Amino acid sequence: MIRPILKYGDEVLHDPAREVEQVTPEIQRLIDDMVETMYAAPGIGLAATQVGIPLRIFVVDLSIGRDPAGLITMVNPVFVERSGMQLEEEGCLSVPGFNATVARPLHAVVRGLDREGHPHEVEGRDLLARAFQHEMDHLDGTLFLDRLQGIKKQMIVRRIRKQMRANRW
Ligand code: NI
Repeated sequence: MIRPILKYGDEVLHDPAREVEQVTPEIQRLIDDMVETMYAAPGIGLAATQVGIPLRIFVVDLSIGRDPAGLITMVNPVFVERSGMQLEEEGCLSVPGFNATVARPLHAVVRGLDREGHPHEVEGRDLLARAFQHEMDHLDGTLFLDRLQGIKKQMIVRRIRKQMRANRW
């Protein structure tokens, strides 16, 4: 089931998510919905907070469903390792229409549970490391906008508020 994606300004997006106690069939349904929602958007990553569920779960697939091996599910993820720095432009399904350059780690290793509740560890470089950090941020209630400074952030927030006032957000 495709779920609606919350946008900047919705409280759930701005609050830290809590740990999943157990990977139950209900959690697996949520994961499946998140994957379907991510592919439909389309996007390369989605956090549970973006569909209004404040739990520490994210899915990432750089191939957006083209490569069956490309899907990564992380429940209760933690960083095992992070190194280097990259500066690239990124966007977010919860901040549609806006992009900005954000500093992210060049290399990241994430450990968490997979869809079956089994522990796994995935290493990411370049875009995958960036996606890991972006999704981990979501679970802490942080959007890429919060990582921007000064005028760039103000400019985007002002334009979003304008859209909100016009009921177009
Ligand atoms: Ni995002």
